[in-house]
Amino acid sequence: MRGLDAFRLDGRVAIVTGGGGGLGANMCRSLAAAGAAVAVVGRTQETIDAVRDRLVGEGGRAVSVRADVSQKDSIDEMADTVVRELGGIDVLINNAAIYPRRAWTEIDEAEWDAVFATNLKGFFLCARAAYPSLAERGHGRIVNLTSITFFGGWDLLLSYVSTKGGIVGFTRALARELGPEGITVNAISPGAFPTDAEKIHPDPDGYNRFVLERQSLKRRGTAEDIGNLAIFLASDASSFITGQLFGIDGGWVMN
Ligand SMILES: NC(=O)c1ccc[n+]([C@@H]2O[C@H](COP(=O)([O-])OP(=O)(O)OC[C@H]3O[C@@H](n4cnc5c(N)ncnc54)[C@H](O)[C@@H]3O)[C@@H](O)[C@H]2O)c1
Repeated sequence: MRGLDAFRLDGRVAIVTGGGGGLGANMCRSLAAAGAAVAVVGRTQETIDAVRDRLVGEGGRAVSVRADVSQKDSIDEMADTVVRELGGIDVLINNAAIYPRRAWTEIDEAEWDAVFATNLKGFFLCARAAYPSLAERGHGRIVNLTSITFFGGWDLLLSYVSTKGGIVGFTRALARELGPEGITVNAISPGAFPTDAEKIHPDPDGYNRFVLERQSLKRRGTAEDIGNLAIFLASDASSFITGQLFGIDGGWVMN
């Protein structure tokens, strides 16, 4: 397929975890605008319902499915629901994450385990649950959200940054296993985007200056920037790309 049609997602079904807010909600809107039916997945019924209602109001097809990515039973049930209600799964956007901020000596074992359960095991559980349908449909796409913090190292976020490094390995190793089945696995590495995640920084103006000084492009990233990359990685336009990492940070990290 040539040209803009290759970027369309008509007839495709996409799951977005952590779809109730932030970048996840915005990727839901972008994927729906490109024609995908979207399953908005998250822990809070009210917020995922609100995103679903917005997508439907904008002319899209969408369902909301309450699930906790760290719980296998919950995720298996979520995948079954999506297949039943939307007919299959073509795209999995592994986006849900938590990011407690504190000095590394203050992190207790329970918190460390909780961050890994959501940010890394959750990606595995969702991929496993979606896999039968992704394989059956023949053009599966898995997109994993990692973070600039892994590439720069980042203080006060040790557990989070460790999981984000794990996601780079997860993306590459899974891409090796799934390539023969025509399923691509890629990662998006956002820089600094103004979502709830940014509220962990105590001085918003100072953080804004910090970001703009480091980026080559002198504007803040927007939800649409991430959404457009998600469309590309979900679509046929990226069908020969797998195991790759897409930095989207205004030219901050350049590897
Ligand atoms: N915003 C940024 O600047 C930025 C930068 C780098 C990476 N990222 C990555 O982008 C992704 C989205 O981040 P965001 O900024 O939108 O954060 P966010 O906190 O707004 O969104 C995360 C979503 O995940 C959900 N979630 C958390 N635990 C869950 C669980 N166990 N099961 C289901 N859902 C759960 C939350 O409820 C929330 O809706 C994350 O993977 C994050 O690491 C964001």
